[in-house]
Amino acid sequence: MDELQKKIASLDKDRIPVHVAMIMDGNGRWAKRQGFERSDGHAEGVSTVHRVTKMSSDLGIKYLTLYAFSTENWNRPQAEVDTLMYLIGWAIERELPELLENNVRIHLLGDIERIPEEPRKRLFYARDTTAHCTGLQLNMCLSYSSRWEITEAARQLARMAAEGKINPDEISEQVFSNHLTTAGIPDPDLLIRTGGEERISNYLLWQIAYSELYFTPVLWPDFSNEEYVDAILDFQNRERRFGKTSEQVQNNE
Ligand code: IPE
Ligand code: IPE
Ligand code: MG
Repeated sequence: MDELQKKIASLDKDRIPVHVAMIMDGNGRWAKRQGFERSDGHAEGVSTVHRVTKMSSDLGIKYLTLYAFSTENWNRPQAEVDTLMYLIGWAIERELPELLENNVRIHLLGDIERIPEEPRKRLFYARDTTAHCTGLQLNMCLSYSSRWEITEAARQLARMAAEGKINPDEISEQVFSNHLTTAGIPDPDLLIRTGGEERISNYLLWQIAYSELYFTPVLWPDFSNEEYVDAILDFQNRERRFGKTSEQVQNNE
């Protein structure tokens, strides 16, 4: 058994997180350190996406949510935005056969209409072609930001209230959740951010209310399967109390 297999064997199979969210950060710094262009870092990052997706499927994780491009990332230099958009379209097309083989369903979160037509068509094609898959659900956050999403939900509900379709008194946390792009998806159990920054960068603010946070200095292109399993092992050593006392949790109250 190699190191990775040993680590996997030490996982508690009954406490695998249902939903893992990731902030894939550090591609640019990875590239600069090697003396490459930032875009080379993004290309390398695609390999990590491939690996992490396969690993998530193999571990029996049900939802993997990846922050691929934020609303704020539109403010990067146009050449970098163009490269990222090209890479997203290219990668989704290249990965599609294996995603299907592994029964992975693609779901898109974000203001997808802002994505240029060519990659957007490929994303929609991948989403539609994998719609019947019942294994891992891979949520790709593109042109996504949490404040955008929450504002959209508020706007939808306000419109419904103005049209008399909903009574404002009926707007509960559950109703609000159902108007977010993550409607129907359980909240993340574990949020992993690579790249060393300890911040959330406008990601899933509502959904991570009780997620376990894991920050690693490892840059996204270097994020290995071993490090992924380390994060899950760390998660399994935490006590999720949801406001209760430790005693209550231990007595299953
Ligand atoms: C994350 O890597 C990828 C995207 C935001 C699209 P960065 O490009 O942010 O890499 P750093 O943080 O500059 O190293
Ligand atoms: C967060 O990374 C967004 C993605 C990983 C897509 P950034 O590199 O854009 O985050 P900040 O701006 O440094 O917080
Ligand atoms: Mg970054």
